[in-house]
Amino acid sequence: MIVTTKKLFEAAYGKYAIGAYNINNLEQAMGLFRGNLDSQAPFIIQISKGARAYTDKLMLEGMIRSANEVFPDAIFAVHLDHGDEETALDCINSGFYSSVMIDASHAPFDENIAITRRVVDAAHAKGIVVEAELGQLGGVEEHVSVDEADAKLTNPDEAKEFVERSGCDSLACAIGTSHGAFKFSGSQGLHFDVLADIQKNLPSFPLVMHGSSSVPQEEVKRINEAGGTLLGAKGVDADQFKRAAELGVTKINIDTDGRLVWTRVHREFFRDKPDQFDLRPPGKIFMAEYAKFIAAKNVKLGSAGQLDEVRKLLG
Ligand code: G3H
Ligand code: 13P
Ligand code: ZN
Repeated sequence: MIVTTKKLFEAAYGKYAIGAYNINNLEQAMGLFRGNLDSQAPFIIQISKGARAYTDKLMLEGMIRSANEVFPDAIFAVHLDHGDEETALDCINSGFYSSVMIDASHAPFDENIAITRRVVDAAHAKGIVVEAELGQLGGVEEHVSVDEADAKLTNPDEAKEFVERSGCDSLACAIGTSHGAFKFSGSQGLHFDVLADIQKNLPSFPLVMHGSSSVPQEEVKRINEAGGTLLGAKGVDADQFKRAAELGVTKINIDTDGRLVWTRVHREFFRDKPDQFDLRPPGKIFMAEYAKFIAAKNVKLGSAGQLDEVRKLLG
């Protein structure tokens, strides 16, 4: 059943976070649905602009519609990840997405608000909810001073004004994470102090944490032993998800970790079976491994076991 993220956030706020997982292909879709049902978790499917362009946006939509029939017990939102205004409007008008993100975080404050407001007005007219972003995620490079890096974090006072003026339904905050497999070069971590101040200014308002892959070191080791060269890859400690959830984070975005599972499975498979050329055997292994990964991640997020409760709330 496809629902809005708003409904999922009402159930989760302050207690746990919903996993928001990016998908691009059939094997990821199968693993995602299986893993969430195995762990009895509500979830969010994220589709990026790149994912829409990978084959054809209609292929992805068709796959998700079919998965909804194949797995009738699943409860999930379909969400555009990091949309620009044009893509967000396209998704709103498609009639398929239940939630869109407008990411105008690169724009100056007032312009970010104006762009977000336009998307919010179009989305709300159709019962669709909107995630916006304030602050700048980014890799913390060695040469960037702590002050410079902190300046990109979400300003809690601006966050309140941004939400009031833009009318967005949830807010992605920059609290020290970045996208990809190389998040931290030293001992940096999440800025829970900033998150706590944002929650103080926006009580009960759903916050979103991007760049939340954990980049498991065992996964990186196996990829490198099978020919990869991911040197110095590092992610977010999944044991911190619970604290983030208590501070108002209701959605935690994970993409890179799934790509690492795919890379490990396929590198090991073809290293160990160099005579093989059928795509299905590694595909089957990947679907099972991805499902296992999702189920384990949902335990860390606290969303595992919440499906019945959410079903009851939906009535
Ligand atoms: O935040 C970015 C997501 O990981 C999506 O990545 O744009 O390569 O699909 P992508
Ligand atoms: P990761 O690169 O940490 O998986 O973050 C994904 C994300 O934020 C998608 O919007
Ligand atoms: Zn993101």
